[in-house]
Amino acid sequence: MQIRLLLLMTTGFLLRSLVPVHAAVQEVTQFGISESAFSPYNEGLFTPMGDLSSLSSNAFARLHHPAFPKHSVRVKKSNFCDGEVQAYTGYIDVQARHLFFYFFESRRDPSQDDVIYWTNGGPGGSSSIGLFMELGPCRVKSHDSTERNPWSWNEHASIFFVDQPVDVGYSYAEYGEAVTNTQEAANDITAFIGIFFEHFTKFKGRALHLAGESYGGRYIPVFASTIYDKNVELAEAGVTPINLTSIMLGNGCTDFSTMMPSYYDAQCSDPTFPPILDISSCVRMKQLIPRCQQRYKEGCLDRFDSIECRAAVQFCWVATFGFFNDKNTYDRSRLCTEKSEMEDCYPIVKDLQDFLSNNRTQDLLGVDRAKRGNFTYQSSKVSKAFNDSVDWFSFPAQYYIAGLLERGIRALVYVGATDFICNWIGNERMTLSLEWTKQGLYRDRPLRPWLVDGDIAGMTRSGGGLTFATIAGAGHLAPYDRPKQSLELVNRWLAGEAL
Ligand SMILES: *[C@@H]1O[C@H](CO)[C@@H](O)[C@H](O)[C@H]1NC(C)=O
Ligand SMILES: *[C@@H]1O[C@H](CO)[C@@H](O)[C@H](O)[C@H]1NC(C)=O
Ligand SMILES: *[C@@H]1O[C@H](CO)[C@@H](O)[C@H](O)[C@H]1NC(C)=O
Ligand SMILES: *[C@@H]1O[C@H](CO)[C@@H](O)[C@H](O)[C@H]1NC(C)=O
Repeated sequence: MQIRLLLLMTTGFLLRSLVPVHAAVQEVTQFGISESAFSPYNEGLFTPMGDLSSLSSNAFARLHHPAFPKHSVRVKKSNFCDGEVQAYTGYIDVQARHLFFYFFESRRDPSQDDVIYWTNGGPGGSSSIGLFMELGPCRVKSHDSTERNPWSWNEHASIFFVDQPVDVGYSYAEYGEAVTNTQEAANDITAFIGIFFEHFTKFKGRALHLAGESYGGRYIPVFASTIYDKNVELAEAGVTPINLTSIMLGNGCTDFSTMMPSYYDAQCSDPTFPPILDISSCVRMKQLIPRCQQRYKEGCLDRFDSIECRAAVQFCWVATFGFFNDKNTYDRSRLCTEKSEMEDCYPIVKDLQDFLSNNRTQDLLGVDRAKRGNFTYQSSKVSKAFNDSVDWFSFPAQYYIAGLLERGIRALVYVGATDFICNWIGNERMTLSLEWTKQGLYRDRPLRPWLVDGDIAGMTRSGGGLTFATIAGAGHLAPYDRPKQSLELVNRWLAGEAL
């Protein structure tokens, strides 16, 4: 139960195609370029096809790089979603793993602007949620159409959306193997980013920001740390290091030792939101929380034991979540009783699934045969694999944030203020618990309002490279609820300005 509630996204239909994948790969790759033929083409972006505009929208070009012998990229132009900028889709092929991506150039100046990598959470959630519902260049409007999003994060940055780990969205593995934990996922993403910047030479050396939502609050600190550490090897191999500049965590569930007790505050004692429970339930919860914390500490933190840890989490879950009833777990300000199915609380998700299940859309994007047919935004296989490996509770993701801050990688932790599942109180506690040499510059500051057009958009605190910010009036999917404020936040962050 605990994980089901946490994931909130356990849809039934996941299409497992029986079509041999090799055949699909051969078929779509009409412009195969052999590895030996690579070097002359390593001079500019897609030189083999001439300039960008000559890249085909009907078939993939395949690119290799000697520094990544086990990897290749398939990419095509895909005219959709944002008519103003170049848009591409493709797969990064990591041996038998195929990670689907969308890439949109910046609406301002793609040859100068920073690059953002975006992933949704889950685990198992497709980044199409981020693209077509939250912060991408277009939003799904009906089952077969989209409309322009004026507050897309590609206003000042080029951005890619990746369906990861394998099996999520249009991504897949040929032999059905699943990625079961964050570190494995990080290795694929590191290869993805390395290849991406080597091939898309126009973007080489450009400042990179890794951004993620929800479970992305656990993914992104590990992905960024893996990229940071891998840079040493890349430099030795003569490859341009990745210019990792910041991480952005949106409504993250990064650390459960600070989030669990905050489920009490979010229901009974939030200075920004009235209590949503009766007094007797709040009292009961208050009594249970120290026991939850003790069990969690013993089973998950002091000495990780998967059986003890699961039992502790189960106890904590009932203790803190068991009272939550008719509200949307993603947004305390909204009613939604069907807590386990995201599309019940957000009807747009059904249109999104229909749009991405459509054969015409899949043709346009170049989806491999293995992932043709009905699209599901949530891979139950991946969520189950992560649950089985206890990835949720088995490593302290916040330590990675501290490690990055120590090395000058900036971190933005923003939270839609009415979220429950990964609420602002738990996130603020997590940031205040971080230990790095400049922690005092952060902790000593008070929360202050930040403004958009003269109106209070939320509260913020900043120092030592770390910025915490709430977005008022937004739930778990903050850029969906408050697109304008979210874009303002991101643009100021990219520009290195105070909020
Ligand atoms: C990384 O990006 C920043 C911001 O655009 C830029 O100032 C810096 O020169 C870049 N670093 C490298 C090594 O390219
Ligand atoms: C989907 O499109 C492909 C390529 O255009 C076509 O071969 C296939 O028959 C279509 N599938 C369905 C179910 O319409
Ligand atoms: C795909 O979805 C449609 C509509 O929801 C459904 O009728 C159909 O049975 C599904 N197909 C498969 C193969 O699951
Ligand atoms: C997660 O794992 C626990 C323990 O194995 C199990 O009881 C629970 O049903 C699992 N949840 C999901 C969503 O797979």
